[in-house]
Amino acid sequence: MRASRKVRVAILISGRGSNMASLVAAAQAPDYPAEIVLVAANRPDALGLATASGHGIATRALDHRAYPSREAFDAALQAELAVADIDLVCLAGFMRIFSAGFVEAWAGRMINIHPSLLPLFKGVHTHEQALAAGVRLHGCTVHYVVPELDAGPIIAQAAVPVRPGDDADALAARILVQEHRLYPQALALVASGQVRLEGARVVFSEGLTGAEGALLSL
Ligand code: GRF
Repeated sequence: MRASRKVRVAILISGRGSNMASLVAAAQAPDYPAEIVLVAANRPDALGLATASGHGIATRALDHRAYPSREAFDAALQAELAVADIDLVCLAGFMRIFSAGFVEAWAGRMINIHPSLLPLFKGVHTHEQALAAGVRLHGCTVHYVVPELDAGPIIAQAAVPVRPGDDADALAARILVQEHRLYPQALALVASGQVRLEGARVVFSEGLTGAEGALLSL
């Protein structure tokens, strides 16, 4: 009997690509429900492109500066995703805002990892924001992408302590370890259909407690 088709995933990056590498590593397990078929970057110098090629994954560099508008870039990206027959898009350190039309076209099929416990600390410099706010817990969030930045329904979160003496680099490093655990787990939940988007709500399959999307590291 033919094995059921794995969910075909594209990962979009802008830089280092360590989260992308964690997804690629997880997807090597035979029973993982997704396969990573494409890694694309909006910066030709994104370091993660070489990492992906090294794993035999197709890569594309679409330099956003070469396109006359946001819509033109998004259309070029959409064409690449269509050619690769992509089912699901994972943003992993992708530092570019999409047009609303692109986001709507991928509604419920595009997820992102953000380095804070949303809805706290949207945007950039999240670790500086957390230190300035004096929170004792910080972390990362995997969420569906909606047109408003970092505002989409939450799939999974991991929390870490903020320790006395922490600076932004120390916090970033502590959280990155959890990002690399959380994102593969969240992608598996989405790709297997155990988690889905219904309207503006994330719904877990019967039998799941929601704890599957929660990690705590103290
Ligand atoms: C991660 O902290 C991610 O949460 C944020 O940007 C960083 C990307 O790191 N969106 P990498 O490129 O995955 O190493």
